[in-house]
Amino acid sequence: MTASNAVLTNPQATTDFLPLNGTDFVELYVSNAKQAAHYFQTAFGFQPLAFAGLETGLRDRESYVLVQDKIRLVLTAPLFKDSEIGRHIDRHGDGVKVVAIWVDDATKSFEETTQRGAKGCLQPETLSDEHGTVVRSGIHTYGDTIHLFIERKNYTGVFMPGFKPWTPKYQPPVVGLKYIDHMVGNVGWNEMNTWVNFYAEVMGFSQLVSFDDKDISTDYTALMSKVMSNGNGRIKFPINEPAEGKKKSQVEEYLDFYDGAGVQHIAVATDNIIETVTALQSRGVEFLRVPATYYETVLDRVGQIDEDLAPLSELGILIDRDDEGYLLQIFTKPIVSRPTLFFEIIQRKGAKSFGKGNFQALFEAIEREQMLRGTL
Ligand code: FE2
Repeated sequence: MTASNAVLTNPQATTDFLPLNGTDFVELYVSNAKQAAHYFQTAFGFQPLAFAGLETGLRDRESYVLVQDKIRLVLTAPLFKDSEIGRHIDRHGDGVKVVAIWVDDATKSFEETTQRGAKGCLQPETLSDEHGTVVRSGIHTYGDTIHLFIERKNYTGVFMPGFKPWTPKYQPPVVGLKYIDHMVGNVGWNEMNTWVNFYAEVMGFSQLVSFDDKDISTDYTALMSKVMSNGNGRIKFPINEPAEGKKKSQVEEYLDFYDGAGVQHIAVATDNIIETVTALQSRGVEFLRVPATYYETVLDRVGQIDEDLAPLSELGILIDRDDEGYLLQIFTKPIVSRPTLFFEIIQRKGAKSFGKGNFQALFEAIEREQMLRGTL
């Protein structure tokens, strides 16, 4: 089975009222940003970039900014009780608060989206320092998650006004992560179409691939998923909602532990998944494993591939094919205490889809983990 990748007609998409350059950064609210930063350096090879906190004049929070090629991660922790950040962590655990999008005009982005029904969370504001200005604005999306629009064409500093360069001696090497390929949101029962419509109407996105629950289900697990993409394809947001299964699905488990909708996984691209995953595993990143039998039949399903099967099988890397090529992918176990947020590592060899052919094997692997957690 391969996923159709046809772009469905969306009248909004022809008028690019919201040109987007790509993901600017992803910000996680965490209870201990200092330790989280160490983890993302050590385990995932992110490089230290910038810092803001008490030493830069902030009183209520501190943030570490890490970078790997085009991926910027911001880790933010509260410094006092009863803060908005603290309440977010209390409710959701560590998780993604901000999916920031790089734009040429943050003021216009705010106006265009709020005119179309987005709820604003940050009026356009200009931040300045000796390196220039950044304009930013923000809107709410699913759950407590927000989008910030970041305009940085007049800025030459390391990250943003208010941040200073962060240059610790400890800098483990990168693992070859390049850019964010897609970010997936889990939303509540019957809410998928609400958020699909939000991205279509408010942000001018089009729908790429459509699954239904008959496509993606095991005995226990079922979900529905639609993929929304902006005009130039640099931003792709699949949206999942749970579907009726015999027992609790992984999306339901997420919604229970996150206490609502939120970002389920961040998929990051590499040019060499074998090298990247070898490095990640040696640095302690844990991945979901499918049974060895997966590799006995996978080539019958996906046909010829450039890579040797042996290292893929040894590392647990999955393969899928669509009309345009194939892809290699693997999913980490949750990277936070609650069974919520995880990463996907993906290498595309022509395929533009998301690995639907692997869902069956993956869901069974996830169910084994759920069984161990007593949440199935
Ligand atoms: Fe994915």
